[in-house]
Amino acid sequence: MLKKTMLFLASITLINHAVVAQPIKHSDQEIKQKVETLLKKMTIEEKVGQMTQITLGVILDDSTREVGNGLNINKEKLKKAIHTYKVGSILNSTATALTVKQWNSLIKEIQDEALSTPNEIPVIYGVDAIHGVTYTKGSTLYPHNIGLAATRNAELAKLTAKATAKELRATGVRWNFDPVLDLGVNPIWSRFSETYGEDTYLTKKFGVGVIQGYEEDGLENPTAVASTMKHFIGYSDPANGKDRTPAYIPDIVLWEKFLPQFQAAIDAGSASIMINSASVNGIPVHGSKRLLTDLLRTELGFKGLVVTDWEDVIRLHTRHMVAESPRAAVKMAVDAGIDMSMVPKDFSFYEHLVDLVKAGEISEQRLNQSVGIILKLKYQLGLFDNAYHESEALENFGKAEYKNLALQAARESITLLKNDDDILPLSKNAKILLAGPTGHSLAPLNGSWSYSWQGDVEENYPDDNKTILEVFEKTVGKKNLITHSYTGFNNSKNYDIDGLVRKAKKADYIVLALGENAYAESPGALDDLNLAKNQMNLAQAALATGKPVIVILAEGRPRIIRDIVPATKAIVQSYLPGSQGAQAITDVIFGNYNPNGKLPYSYPQYTGDFSTYDRVYLNDVQQLKPAVLTYNGYKPQWPFGHGLSYSSFEYSDITISKKKLTGDEQLTVSVWLKNTSEFDAKHAVELYISDLFASVSPAVKRLKAFKKVNLKAGQGKRISFAINKNDLTFVTPDLKRIVEAGEFKLTLGTETINFHYQ
Ligand code: BGC
Repeated sequence: MLKKTMLFLASITLINHAVVAQPIKHSDQEIKQKVETLLKKMTIEEKVGQMTQITLGVILDDSTREVGNGLNINKEKLKKAIHTYKVGSILNSTATALTVKQWNSLIKEIQDEALSTPNEIPVIYGVDAIHGVTYTKGSTLYPHNIGLAATRNAELAKLTAKATAKELRATGVRWNFDPVLDLGVNPIWSRFSETYGEDTYLTKKFGVGVIQGYEEDGLENPTAVASTMKHFIGYSDPANGKDRTPAYIPDIVLWEKFLPQFQAAIDAGSASIMINSASVNGIPVHGSKRLLTDLLRTELGFKGLVVTDWEDVIRLHTRHMVAESPRAAVKMAVDAGIDMSMVPKDFSFYEHLVDLVKAGEISEQRLNQSVGIILKLKYQLGLFDNAYHESEALENFGKAEYKNLALQAARESITLLKNDDDILPLSKNAKILLAGPTGHSLAPLNGSWSYSWQGDVEENYPDDNKTILEVFEKTVGKKNLITHSYTGFNNSKNYDIDGLVRKAKKADYIVLALGENAYAESPGALDDLNLAKNQMNLAQAALATGKPVIVILAEGRPRIIRDIVPATKAIVQSYLPGSQGAQAITDVIFGNYNPNGKLPYSYPQYTGDFSTYDRVYLNDVQQLKPAVLTYNGYKPQWPFGHGLSYSSFEYSDITISKKKLTGDEQLTVSVWLKNTSEFDAKHAVELYISDLFASVSPAVKRLKAFKKVNLKAGQGKRISFAINKNDLTFVTPDLKRIVEAGEFKLTLGTETINFHYQ
């Protein structure tokens, strides 16, 4: 331990002496020239090295590779990676959450080595700061994307991204593998919480907002990081619901629903893109020239860096069985269009690619394309000017304002699903029994990539992060709180029914904190979307006491709870609300905050019935018996867009600027919205458009705009939106996006109005 401490101290001293350069903005032309000059000096091996990304574990001492205790770079391994294999990029951390200083010295050690190579090319380091900075002690964590989408406040999401960029840059890392633009249409998929939900428009708006948050200050600036759109494309709807398994998505659906958000993000200038590990319609995306070059580069016009996902080149051979050898896999992926391989645990990619180029099977010109892009990004990020952490960036770590931002985001995300008899908000003077496995743990509130990959190491969480139990206690006082929640999601005491029933006798209300433990990626796989049996049993027992029951759901994906919904008085969806989640939940439950979140997905009622709100009409027609047709094909537990408030709202007087919209004209639609309650409120207004008849079966409705508004008690406001023909388009079987003349319906709350497009 002493040794490790000394190592870090030594590096930190060096940092203090490091020269800190001010950010320099290089023009595109200047960067182009620098890249060309550098490319001319580089050997084939150096070029291939630039295309090689390894994980940090490869250069660590064995003793610190996987354990959560310290982390030491092994000098010999580092030299081998940088000098022998000329590695251009490193990612990730181990289970250890490092301090900012430790990150700084880690990056410094790596860059010192990289800058001692003949062409002095710095390494680009990347991590998954997907809801705030991970792997770093004391960083602030925000709600996951699924919760951000529920805020219907893309500006707020952008602010969380800006804060994340600042904290990440302080560590010395300048490349963030975020945002996920995959569509959350398959709730059993273990990465559902990383999505912005089931709607393309929502995903597009939040994705673009977050990318701007990361990048708009200018990549050379110490307040920005490079973003990564991921995972291109079709990753999120695997047929069997398991992560990294095949999806079968017809092109017409892929183009209609999965592509627009990538196009918008590319247009917004996102620096890089990561590829879907799995296959779409039988073709592994990493081996698909059609998707990676013809579509991504030529049609969508992407000019940035294409990075593979984890081990996905070799997996073309070992899992997808489309390449006969690891060498053939490298050729296939490079031919398809990747720029950098997240190899990441060995140097096989380097060896095969050098060999392929020397054998004339891949041209040096092809390498130049990818290496040019990689070097360009390194220049843009200012790495050639200063490869180390920037001292100005350090000041941006751990600011108090981030906590307020995390609280605001969590508050706006929380979605009140049910509130019979206006049982919420609860009085602070009532006797509350708090029970359930998510009531006294931090992991279930934070989910994946929270200080560790799985996010399930309770000890990693900062001391000032509070559990629901702790904030409840602060809010209502010890005397009003009876507790039956225990630290550790799997702690058997959380499921002790006898204890719950006994304690309930003294309580006025039972608040049950249910949901999921933290998980990331494949380890979060489920065979059954029903909420776990031990939690359902607990809930049934609570309901059987006859005391009013309020359920909090801290979950990354909607677990089916149909059997307990009718008898439960109130249900609060918190998603994965992050570091201030417990405070935000408490604020809603005890009325310090008026909830305004809206579901970004259709909360399923049955395990065999998933429909998205933008289904086609045919989905709704069901034949239950011979000769009996019904129209209840869409029957979620709660629909997309659902979310209650302590206020009530009235929509009236919808008006449009014209009855006929022609060509490129704009149409304005507006509605009068009134807060008819005694409480000030925020309310998200959503504009849906329905194409009544079209040559491709139209969706029942589609979200085309949204706006979050503040309304004082009793206040009314006119809310308006402008639309044009781009909001009326759809994709045809030959993958063209068109608009057809005809009748359209606009819906704002309870109001609808039709117009004609010609
Ligand atoms: C995930 C990516 C992530 C990468 C690096 C992969 O397993 O699929 O989303 O960016 O690991 O951590």
